[in-house]
Amino acid sequence: MRSFLVAGNWKANGDLQLLASMQSAIAQLEPGLASSHKVEAALYLPHVFLPAALVGESPIRFGAQNIASVEAGAYTGEVTVDMLSQIGVASTLIGHSERRSLYNEADEVLAQKLALAQKQGLQSVFCCGETLAERESGQGIEVVKAQLNAVLAEVNDWQKLVIAYEPVWAIGTGKTASPEQAQEVHKAIRELVASFDASAAARIQILYGGSVNPGNAQELFSQPDIDGGLIGGASLKIDDFVACIKAAQSLV
Ligand code: PGA
Repeated sequence: MRSFLVAGNWKANGDLQLLASMQSAIAQLEPGLASSHKVEAALYLPHVFLPAALVGESPIRFGAQNIASVEAGAYTGEVTVDMLSQIGVASTLIGHSERRSLYNEADEVLAQKLALAQKQGLQSVFCCGETLAERESGQGIEVVKAQLNAVLAEVNDWQKLVIAYEPVWAIGTGKTASPEQAQEVHKAIRELVASFDASAAARIQILYGGSVNPGNAQELFSQPDIDGGLIGGASLKIDDFVACIKAAQSLV
């Protein structure tokens, strides 16, 4: 059976004080995250907070929000997979809708990033999702499939891939996909993965993201193809993020 993954995405928010408080709140969770293995927690932090986060043992996995699309070179301001690996970072987001829309990251560049992460054994949480206009025109699932088809040929280690379905219209808007709407897309994503690798499809974690909060987490996570959440706003509030983790724990 797949474990749940409850992942926070701080975006360009938070500070070291919040990080320390969040770490101690999560460390106190019962039953312990590290011992249960059925619920994993992760936080995707601004790069500069990662060294502080990685000091000492922690039941949370810490990851980056973005990686360079090149291995190294004259790319001012970029952070490479190798640099992240050197400080012990084991996971990264790729293709978040804000990277796609605000930084013009197209399928080709996202495929390069995924290939680099795979090559160096870095786990990727690859994000996909349709806009409201795409959903309303009946193209939602096709858009998501196209975003995945553009990159999944780069995968050779499926164990190092998580997929996050985040409808753009639900991110930061307070509008959440209904559990049924989300489940329909998650099922289609799992079927798509099966067309690449049937055993990977059964194992891969597919997260829902878009205004997940303590009030909707349990219902979303209880859908058969939803294996947790990628959580923005609510991951900046200790009580809310802990409640989302507990929502997953209540289902195992
Ligand atoms: P949200 O963000 O939970 O604030 O909607 C989710 C995300 O962008 O990953």
